Amino acid sequence: MSQTVHEKPAAAAAPARDAVQADGHAVRLTGVSKSFGRGGAPVLDGIDLTVAPGEFVCLLGASGCGKSTLLNLVAGLDKPSAGAIDVPGGRPALMFQEHALFPWLKAGKNIELALKLRGMPREERKAEAQRLLALVRLDTAYDKRVHELSGGMRQRVALARALAQAGDVLLMDEPFAALDAITRDVLHDELTRIWADTGRAVVFVTHNVREAVRLGQRVVLLSSRPGRIAREWTIGIPQPRRIEAPDVSALSIEITEHLRGEIRRHGKH
Ligand SMILES: Nc1ncnc2c1ncn2[C@@H]1O[C@H](COP(=O)(O)OP(=O)(O)OP(=O)(O)O)[C@@H](O)[C@H]1O
Ligand SMILES: [Mg+2]
Repeated sequence: MSQTVHEKPAAAAAPARDAVQADGHAVRLTGVSKSFGRGGAPVLDGIDLTVAPGEFVCLLGASGCGKSTLLNLVAGLDKPSAGAIDVPGGRPALMFQEHALFPWLKAGKNIELALKLRGMPREERKAEAQRLLALVRLDTAYDKRVHELSGGMRQRVALARALAQAGDVLLMDEPFAALDAITRDVLHDELTRIWADTGRAVVFVTHNVREAVRLGQRVVLLSSRPGRIAREWTIGIPQPRRIEAPDVSALSIEITEHLRGEIRRHGKH
């Protein structure tokens, strides 16, 4: 088994656009497999995946196919059973379905904590937290407590906090799954804009085909049991896209057929 490469300390990580490596990848998985426990059946099997610097890749698959497992491996939260993961820009930033904000801290302080962990000097943190809140269009939320914010606002703060983390890769695990369709639509627009502004590579996990086609430059479909890359699509539709646009719908229908095929093959969802 080769070594997982995550050693670069977060504080030393280069800013987004400078972290481009000579061979040009933000994330590279080579032959990655993962099983849990001794002799457990593989959840992921032989995953080869390269994400280019600044690329937006959506990982799509049925529930339980190993999407979160894959993301956790890239995040360095767990180790692969076989294969290698290379993230040249240092430990990626992470955002989950649940906001995971600290309820006893105000929105601004949640972000400043991430900046502190990244090694930013105290005197710079407040201004940077305010800049990030403005980026997610929450200029007025600095002094708000988490319980005072709506679900969509909490996810915006969580996004700002993820952006406060160092690294040139942002990993997102179904971050908008718990939101209503309209709020999700607005956040899709915001994420597309922020992705273009920051130049970070994004690996976005979802089981929502339309969301994947709305957001990604590339959609990678994982099969289930074991998780393998079944197929992938390059999405040439210009941004910003509308989730209900005919070209987004047509491609979503095609991808859904393949996803159904994967689910049928394994007999359950
Ligand atoms: N820590 C663990 N220990 C044992 N089994 C695990 C562990 N984490 C995940 N699994 C198993 O690995 C498989 C894939 O889980 P994973 O959470 O990666 O799926 P997923 O694609 O993210 O699903 P969902 O769309 O429901 O979030 C499941 O069968 C799950 O039970
Ligand atoms: Mg998951």
